[in-house]
Amino acid sequence: MLGLRRESDPAWVGIALSDVGRLLQDHAHCEKKAAATALSILLGVPDRPELVRPLTELAQEETRHFFQVLAETERRGFALGRCPVDPYARALQLCVRGEGLERLRDRLLIGSLIEARSSERFLLLARHCEDERLSRMWGGLFDAEAEHHTLFVRLAGLLGGTRAARDRLDVLAEDEAAIVAGLPLRVAIH
Ligand SMILES: [Fe+2]
Ligand SMILES: [Fe+2]
Repeated sequence: MLGLRRESDPAWVGIALSDVGRLLQDHAHCEKKAAATALSILLGVPDRPELVRPLTELAQEETRHFFQVLAETERRGFALGRCPVDPYARALQLCVRGEGLERLRDRLLIGSLIEARSSERFLLLARHCEDERLSRMWGGLFDAEAEHHTLFVRLAGLLGGTRAARDRLDVLAEDEAAIVAGLPLRVAIH
């Protein structure tokens, strides 16, 4: 799905839904980090409106997602809480190579993979969560993050060409699959 080389372990969704409050806290932080990452990437291309504009819109949309998930977290009596350690994102960041625009392209491609994995998992949550309200929320976010995957791949193509971006994405997708396979299943989105 969405260029992922490995499906999530089917056991993940049961583990994730075993503590919905903690899952929502982790999810809220994921959306907040998505907004911050979009803004951080655009700082590297301030003179490229074709990148700055969509990244700004993305940050705005991810902030809306953050607000939405935070509201659900608080509805269940939980505060946002401290930002949990995210071994998945940390391992992916270590795959970034190169300098300057090449490095930025890697960050966009890694963004595309995180969006794809999130999207895959939101669909699993939408299908398995018995709380209708949360199931609807995750169903909506599945669509949104799938579109973000496509957006990141397109933006990466603006830095050095579509073909080169696709080739690099092939390599990073293999890395992502190996990272997912090596991580324990947790009450967390990743
Ligand atoms: Fe999002
Ligand atoms: Fe996203």
